Amino acid sequence: MTTPPLRTQYCGHVNETFLNQTVYVCGWVHRRRDHGGLIFIDLRDRTGLLQVVFHPDQADMFKQAEGLRNEFVVQVIGKVEPRPEGTINANLPTGKVELIANSLTILNASEPLPFQLDEHAQLASEETRLKYRYLDLRRPENFVRFSLRHKVIQFIRHYFDDLGFVDVETPMLTKATPEGARDYLVPSRVHPGEFYALPQSPQLFKQLLMMAGFDRYYQIVKCFRDEDLRADRQPEFTQLDLETSFLNEAQIQDIVEGMLLQLFKKVLNVELPNPLPRMTYAEAMRRYGSDKPDLRIPLELVDIADLMKDVEFKVFSAAANAEYSRVVALKVPNGNEKLTRKQIDDYAPFVAQYGAKGLAYLKINDLAKGIEGLQSPILKFLPENVVMAVIERVGGKTGDLIFFGADKEKVVNDAMGALRIKLGHDLNLLEGDWKALWVVDFPMFEYDEKDGRWMAVHHPFTAPKSDDIEAIKQNPRAAVAKAYDIVLNGIELGGGSVRIYTPAMQSAVFEMLGISEEQAQAKFGFLLDALKMGCPPHGGLAMGIDRLVMLMCGAHSIREVIAFPKTQSASCLMTDAPSAIDPKQLKELHIKTDVKA
Ligand code: AMO
Ligand code: AMP
Repeated sequence: MTTPPLRTQYCGHVNETFLNQTVYVCGWVHRRRDHGGLIFIDLRDRTGLLQVVFHPDQADMFKQAEGLRNEFVVQVIGKVEPRPEGTINANLPTGKVELIANSLTILNASEPLPFQLDEHAQLASEETRLKYRYLDLRRPENFVRFSLRHKVIQFIRHYFDDLGFVDVETPMLTKATPEGARDYLVPSRVHPGEFYALPQSPQLFKQLLMMAGFDRYYQIVKCFRDEDLRADRQPEFTQLDLETSFLNEAQIQDIVEGMLLQLFKKVLNVELPNPLPRMTYAEAMRRYGSDKPDLRIPLELVDIADLMKDVEFKVFSAAANAEYSRVVALKVPNGNEKLTRKQIDDYAPFVAQYGAKGLAYLKINDLAKGIEGLQSPILKFLPENVVMAVIERVGGKTGDLIFFGADKEKVVNDAMGALRIKLGHDLNLLEGDWKALWVVDFPMFEYDEKDGRWMAVHHPFTAPKSDDIEAIKQNPRAAVAKAYDIVLNGIELGGGSVRIYTPAMQSAVFEMLGISEEQAQAKFGFLLDALKMGCPPHGGLAMGIDRLVMLMCGAHSIREVIAFPKTQSASCLMTDAPSAIDPKQLKELHIKTDVKA
């Protein structure tokens, strides 16, 4: 005799098509209500809720049902019947029916949970929910997110499989790959005092696969970066990583763009524009103060340094005449009625976080009255013709408000770029649900004032647009890279580049970055060797899967789309990692710590 099944249907699938049928369902008691001499439970599994009714005429079963508590795991066998008139729940797929129980088996009891799983779950602190993440994940809305994540990954795999990309695994115990963060290190037992690094990305391995002639590689792969965490950054995260040979930037972008467009159509039924817009890095910085502009926000920075060169207001004239500085205006249409004086004043400390020393503004109360119709703390420092020229340049009208920023380029871009986004959200200015674009022509290098040296904007393996090594050395600031980012709603989804494929250019770039020949040999000798032995032109990109899924399911943090995420301080509250280890294990690893117990 075969054992009968525990289950024939998922709870959330039992609808009117099952009327009068006997079904076996299993799940968690979501809620119990006793009334009118009947006991009702909402039985929950990953598909949703089903209402189960226990009648007192089956006395034993009824008694057992009285003992049911939230989160008990049960099996119910029963008959599907229509709900009585007036009790239909149009919000539930199972809302027209109920299951009249004939049999109840308690498979497991549950202690009271540390927090409710119903609509009040969000009231529990994130710490509590992360400590008991397996409970938090029981909520069907979470399962919906992870199903979407699964669908996205499944789609991506099909897309790249169809284009002849081959999925190749690359090592996790490896050598540092510079992507701008600190490494997570793993001590070696058999090589005392030596360490592996967990990969910040498979960058060098995928380049070596091109040197191996694999031509098209992709991988959905964990990467590890020890950096300051934010809503869109975790210490371990997942990349869609890809690399191709013999393709130029536009061809690589087309492949990735095709994936994104088809993915959005298939999974969300959203049509993104085909082709996606391309914007140079220089234009993005100029108009939005950011290399990942959120194009849903219809506000722009407008340069006015040329108008400010001779004004009495030193803050503006100094920035207008200095190198690598900017003076910009940011117009908020109808800002006068939308923002109170207090709100305007409150934006000053906001921009100060980004290094801005002030936030001047100008209110256009009545343009017809000329200078008399304007109001601003800096009006007295600016000649009338300059003020009018500014208003004309930004297209200012009566009722508009204009903010100003003047400082080093970086400060103005960071501060006014952030203000633009904040205003967009505060004043509900967002237009459209999805705005994606490519940002192209990134600079090769940026100067790190703190360390007094040049750094790679993307990574040190990115090719410059020009092959003229001497010109690059003479004017590194002007060197443009064959690098591109894909941006969605103001979030950097992915980035990539065409790579350097000659030893001469790679050595020159290392030299620019202050990496000596010996250091280069010690760190990347294997790459430099490979470049000398038949390396094809190649390039690729990596996209953050967590960020992509976060955006696609409307989550606010990638923690919501990672099954077992870490906190802001990179710990796992559930397993309590990282944790101290046994002194014996430390000894085997030849490690002494100087942390007081
Ligand atoms: P990059 O460093 O730009 O490029 O990373 C690619 C994408 O990975 C995602 N990402 C992250 N997601 C979550 N948490 C993090 N800490 C995190 N860091 C990065 C972002 C980012 O756009 N090897 C190159 C790619 C290449 O050149 O092909 C690289 O890793 O979405
Ligand atoms: P102050 O003369 O310093 O009181 O500044 C006059 C106005 O200019 C105030 O509204 C300041 O917030 C503003 N302001 C000062 N420095 C800057 C700056 N670097 N950029 C924009 N506005 C500024």
